[in-house]
Amino acid sequence: MATPAQRFACQACGASQAKWAGRCEACGAWNSIVEEIPREAPPKGLGRGAGRAIELVAMDGAEATPDRFATGIAELDRVFGGGLVRGSAVLVSGDPGVGKSTLLLQAAAALARVGRACVYVSGEEAVDQVRLRARRLGLGKSPVQLAAATSVRDVLTTLDAAGGADVVVVDSIQTMFVDSLDSAPGTVAQVRTSAQELIRFAKRRGTVMMLVGHVTKDGQIAGPRVLEHMVDTVLHFEGERSHQFRILRAVKNRFGATDEIGVFEMTGGGLIEVANPSALFLGEHETEVSGTAVFAGLEGSRPVLVEIQALVAPSPLATPRRAVVGWDSARLAMIMAVLDTRCGLALGGNDVYLNVAGGLRIGEPAADLAVAAALVSSLTGAALPATTVVFGEIGLSGEVRAVSQAEARLKEAAKLGFTRAFAPRGRRAGRGKGAGKGPSGLDAIEIARLGDLVALIEKSAAGA
Ligand code: TYD
Ligand code: MG
Repeated sequence: MATPAQRFACQACGASQAKWAGRCEACGAWNSIVEEIPREAPPKGLGRGAGRAIELVAMDGAEATPDRFATGIAELDRVFGGGLVRGSAVLVSGDPGVGKSTLLLQAAAALARVGRACVYVSGEEAVDQVRLRARRLGLGKSPVQLAAATSVRDVLTTLDAAGGADVVVVDSIQTMFVDSLDSAPGTVAQVRTSAQELIRFAKRRGTVMMLVGHVTKDGQIAGPRVLEHMVDTVLHFEGERSHQFRILRAVKNRFGATDEIGVFEMTGGGLIEVANPSALFLGEHETEVSGTAVFAGLEGSRPVLVEIQALVAPSPLATPRRAVVGWDSARLAMIMAVLDTRCGLALGGNDVYLNVAGGLRIGEPAADLAVAAALVSSLTGAALPATTVVFGEIGLSGEVRAVSQAEARLKEAAKLGFTRAFAPRGRRAGRGKGAGKGPSGLDAIEIARLGDLVALIEKSAAGA
């Protein structure tokens, strides 16, 4: 039986549907299904005898190391895993206004400065606007080639005529269109085909193709989700509008580790690298205050210290409020349940607010113990000593589990002047119980169970 022509596509997730519907069955988005004209009839099957024999090779052959070049922006190179790889396609996604255009213009200028041929194609702004922005960023004299264009055919013809380029920035992929398709720019079919053509050019010419993708919630513009499979690297640029800090996070990288982050600060003169983010994410009070704990975290390969703040207050409401910024609310509920059941701390009737300072989002379970410490500290009114860091994962039975790279975390804390750590028992056998100084020089107090931490904080409350 022939497959029916797929004429409707969800603009949020890219799923194809045979008929229109108000809600996408695949992702649940409303009003996201749009009719699209299929490019060609679906294939009728392969038939026999088609295709040529391909060569099968052994696994243990010599592999070519990717040909990389650095952008000169250290935070960016880190996220790429040590520089851009020739012929690779990169998707930079993020909310509108977060600073994608600024970042890529700065990156293009930095590359152009060291002699790379860079082309910046804007489908959103006129050339004059890009020039104005460049001038504001102090990059007015950079040898970056600019174009305002939306036709992929025109862009590729131009690039071919120019003999290719080292790096091409396309801002944004949602504005690009291929004239052989009938659907409007921004639809899944257009976004997918435009990206396909641009990526094919990148592979053919050894050009680094950087695509900007907007994330929108209303489903009018195709989300870059459909592109994630097509590109080699997906970088997500995130940040709270109310904060100056911007975090570039690798969510997919065929040429490097994911979970690496680059930290930037948005200023009037563009994005500035933040080489030591720990200082940023720590709170700004000198004296000890209750309800805060410093978490020794890890973002990719880099240790980062962040302050976790909690406020526990008796609630006037029948259903107490829970508000969480920068951390998983389900995880907070779990930690509160463990504190309640295993340690006898009744948090149930309280409003609980949790905030990760500086606008960072933490995904690591290693922050459990620091969250618990902040909660207990707020509840009891006892401040943790100012020079103490906390990390460890909490299990449902109340045990504190070891986390990866404890030594790197301790070292970063020691570097920033911390003297003590509440940490899980080391994973390696042979390390004694109780307190002890590791190679980091930090006084590590080993917490085996959550109850031990609660007792420590309550003791200091009683002593205060
Ligand atoms: P932009 O790079 O245009 O965001 P995107 O391309 O992701 O939509 O950045 C827009 C925001 O950045 C805008 O709100 C103004 C701010 N900004 C600065 O604060 N300083 C600057 O030097 C620039 C160029 C932008
Ligand atoms: Mg932009």
